[in-house]
Amino acid sequence: MAKLKTKKRTFIDRCWSGEDSANLYGLTDWGKGYFGVNQAGHVCCLPFKDPERSIDLAEVIGGLAERGIQTPVLLRFDDLLEQRLEELRKAFDRAVAEEKYQGKYSCVYPVKVNQQRILLEQVLHLNEKFGFGFEAGSKPELLAVLGLTAGQNDMPIVCNGFKDAEFIETVVLAAKLGRNITTVVEKFSELRLLVEQATLYGVRPLIGLRVKLSSRGAGRWEGSGGLRSKFGLTMSEVLQVVDFLREREMLDCLKLVHCHLGSQIHDIRLFKNAITELGFIYAELRRLGADCTAIDVGGGLGIDYDGSHSASASSANYSIQEYADDIVYRIKNACEDAKVPHPDIVSESGRFIAAFSSALVFNVVGRTRFDLEPEVKRIRAELEALPHDQQPQPVFDLLAAYAEINDRNLLQIYHDVMQARDEAMSLFSMGYMNLEMRAASEQLFWTIGRELVQRSLKKGKLPDEFAALPEMLSDIYFCNFSVFQSAPDSWAIEQLFPICPIHRLDEQPTRLGVLADITCDSDGKIDHFVDKRDEKSILELHDLKEGEPYYLGIFLLGAYQEVLGDLHNLFGDTHVVHVRVDDDGGWMIGEIIPGDTINEVLAQVEFDTEALKRGIRKDVENAVKKKRLTVEESRALMAFYERGLRGYTYLE
Ligand SMILES: Cc1ncc(COP(=O)(O)O)c(C=O)c1O
Repeated sequence: MAKLKTKKRTFIDRCWSGEDSANLYGLTDWGKGYFGVNQAGHVCCLPFKDPERSIDLAEVIGGLAERGIQTPVLLRFDDLLEQRLEELRKAFDRAVAEEKYQGKYSCVYPVKVNQQRILLEQVLHLNEKFGFGFEAGSKPELLAVLGLTAGQNDMPIVCNGFKDAEFIETVVLAAKLGRNITTVVEKFSELRLLVEQATLYGVRPLIGLRVKLSSRGAGRWEGSGGLRSKFGLTMSEVLQVVDFLREREMLDCLKLVHCHLGSQIHDIRLFKNAITELGFIYAELRRLGADCTAIDVGGGLGIDYDGSHSASASSANYSIQEYADDIVYRIKNACEDAKVPHPDIVSESGRFIAAFSSALVFNVVGRTRFDLEPEVKRIRAELEALPHDQQPQPVFDLLAAYAEINDRNLLQIYHDVMQARDEAMSLFSMGYMNLEMRAASEQLFWTIGRELVQRSLKKGKLPDEFAALPEMLSDIYFCNFSVFQSAPDSWAIEQLFPICPIHRLDEQPTRLGVLADITCDSDGKIDHFVDKRDEKSILELHDLKEGEPYYLGIFLLGAYQEVLGDLHNLFGDTHVVHVRVDDDGGWMIGEIIPGDTINEVLAQVEFDTEALKRGIRKDVENAVKKKRLTVEESRALMAFYERGLRGYTYLE
């Protein structure tokens, strides 16, 4: 791959700075001080919010290319993971101190958010430092967590999700082993199993109850909360649980009450109501004789993906401190009203911890432009060379519009051009217009469209009637990645992720475009981007330069995306590279986890690659026999095929 070059500055660049780019792409908003633009016009990660200690992403990509690692690459910022855990710790410590709250706070990292081993090992190490633990939502997650936390009996583990007898037996055995493990009962049947197994092994289990609150979340994960939610116990079931445990003299095992409103709660008011309700349920459980000592407020702590700090679906209208303050304050008030002791507080904040820690960097492999200058002379000559009765009127109309356009007739030209374009397409479909004339009308249409947009913007605002034109005229940048593998929520639920070039940011972008990935799926594209006011459907991009790579980054991908990603078109996991700030303030590469090879993805869909090779070899030998291939060619073809199988699934 070509190296990044230092570019010559043009006149327009001199008026444009990295700061302008940081504003344009919203880095100053969504970056929260963790991302910025440096003097070289490159995006850098500032895990400590200190410009002296930063990671220059373009430099890292250059360094990786020198080591033979090509984009797409998922960069994991190890320091950022630590910073986020620390932010959480500090925010709650502050809130607890401020309110003179008597319980303790801890977070259990929900493993589902990102289960990659290396990441979990880091979280484990940091959990020790911050007094945090893990949440497991399934049997595989539980087994991973138990193995991971071996020797750490005090580390809290909370088990959510649906549980069968085996799951529950595992929890009971882990408790017998001395682990600090709480089973959150989501259905009454789980409680029976738990009590059975605990009695069998002579264990006093730690029991939590997930309750259905009347307060519900909002947004994409709204269904996770509320009275009709899939999870949790109704209040009548909670009373049944209390009776059931009391009859068995196990009410002292009921330690925790839990709710989860849904992920990415964008409005702080939703937490306020829910936490007060949960506080009173805790108080009622204590009144009924349970030895409840903890409230688990679940996940939902939102990320400001679009940087708007608002109650929009891709944002959150509160800070981590406001969240911590509200939770502590609301629980304290409920407890003081009900005259019960302050419980410990647990949160399961996954997205907040993990989202910032990774970004995907990929290269642009090509572009389609729709606004190339029409060759008017040639079009006119071709038109006039046609027999008189075959000269299509719409092409004359488009040529006339092109010639007549001025600042005062924009709307009229727009109407004429739309009419002429529709007529041209109908004539072609009816067989009355040749391909050359159709191509000419398309060219004229795009160029006039561009002219209309430019002239209108110069005058001020784009008229509503033209609103769709910029998008219609925008370029398509083809990018070496798969949306389905690397940013599945962008496709599945239209979640916004911040996207911007990682270099050339001291140069004004002059193009507008959408991003198309390399899957052969029309859905494999990104056409919604972070904007100051709302989201936008096109992104400002730089013109491509011959022989120079152009790299873009998708940020805040650390939560959910890696594991939800799928193998559409057999594009596998990308390379993953851990990078951190070293002691002298520069960056250093840590672990490199190579992406899937074609061999590996084919094996995942049950192909035996040896059998594939045998098949090709047979064909090759036949071709040699029939003299379609020479022996040298056959050897080269086999070597090529085998090398391909060992190669990266992305374009190299
Ligand atoms: C029970 C439970 N806890 C915690 C989480 C993590 O939520 P978040 O990533 O929004 O913090 C989830 C995810 O939806 C969940 O279902």
